[in-house]
Amino acid sequence: MSASPPLPVPRPSEIVRGLDEYVIGQDEAKRTVAVAVYSHYRKIGQPRAEGLRVAKSNLLLIGPTGTGKTLTCETLSRLLDVPFVTAEATSLAQTRYVGEEIEAVLSRLADRAGGDVARAGRGIVFIDEIDKLKAPRGETRATSGENVQHALLKIMEGAKVKLHDGRYLDTTDVLFVCGGAFVGLAEIMAQTKSFGYIATKDDDNRRILERLNSRVKPTDLFTYGLIPEFTGRLPIVARFGELSRDLLVRIMTEPRDSLYAQFREVFRQEGVELVVAKRVFEQVAEIATEYKTGARSLRGIFEELVSPILYIVPDDPAIRRVDIASLFADPVVVRAG
Ligand SMILES: Nc1ncnc2c1ncn2[C@@H]1O[C@H](COP(=O)(O)OP(=O)(O)OP(=O)(O)O)[C@@H](O)[C@H]1O
Ligand SMILES: [Mg+2]
Repeated sequence: MSASPPLPVPRPSEIVRGLDEYVIGQDEAKRTVAVAVYSHYRKIGQPRAEGLRVAKSNLLLIGPTGTGKTLTCETLSRLLDVPFVTAEATSLAQTRYVGEEIEAVLSRLADRAGGDVARAGRGIVFIDEIDKLKAPRGETRATSGENVQHALLKIMEGAKVKLHDGRYLDTTDVLFVCGGAFVGLAEIMAQTKSFGYIATKDDDNRRILERLNSRVKPTDLFTYGLIPEFTGRLPIVARFGELSRDLLVRIMTEPRDSLYAQFREVFRQEGVELVVAKRVFEQVAEIATEYKTGARSLRGIFEELVSPILYIVPDDPAIRRVDIASLFADPVVVRAG
């Protein structure tokens, strides 16, 4: 039984709309996450029928690096106004005392909640690189990885964990989100497609089958190398896709805090209007695609482009406007008078 009163929880569609302002693309993943988060927070503080334990809807986010997994969790915690911490499964696996590391993570969550343990008890813990806990190739067991999975299982189920300051944090209502790239999972899934295509012209049927077949099943995660107890605790899987060039362009220009918006603001404070042509964003996206780090490399490339200009702008108060038309052409500087 949870002592805390129910939270005002935004509806799934509202959560998706909130995410849309910051996370570009990944529409199906956003919907999956929104429903999971909605049902998780709806359960908190609701009276439960005697003896009925509603299973926790822990989430697993799968997808390549730099495609928005951490960003989604961060944005969620802001939308829901709950504290948020991230931890890396690999660093948990490197310590001798997993328990202590987990206490440290939850202590950080309490700090984020301003020391309010009850508030921390409804926070979000994102555990990244969960795929690295798998048994290495050719081995059936990865002792350290397996230990971490067992330790995580306990707190994901709900446990009272002693914090550094001696107080206890009840993790029953904490939302645990695991993340990982799971390289090679697609091949495993291809081998275990369980629903065959029926000869039909009905497009809807086909779509339903495709959806079922693209679902990541606990058995796929087991084949991948995670222990079955753990895979069983991650019933909801949201898949983040590779970001296309178009999406990368939108990421640089559309979100409220997009790179373009940020740099326009930097220039504005110097009294200068920065105008970057769409072509430039396409060129940046092209280069970022080659780096294969999702949206992560966009900032570096963009910074390299504008920092020579930012170098000269403060020296020349007459500059009013800077036009960048291409990565491979000098920017056009417009001065007053
Ligand atoms: N879909 C997206 N929409 C908007 N920005 C994005 C998106 N994906 C990535 N980004 C940008 O790239 C940065 C890195 O993304 P994020 O940290 O979410 O990646 P990740 O999927 O968690 O990767 P990793 O698996 O390496 O942890 C973000 O801070 C954000 O600026
Ligand atoms: Mg991440």
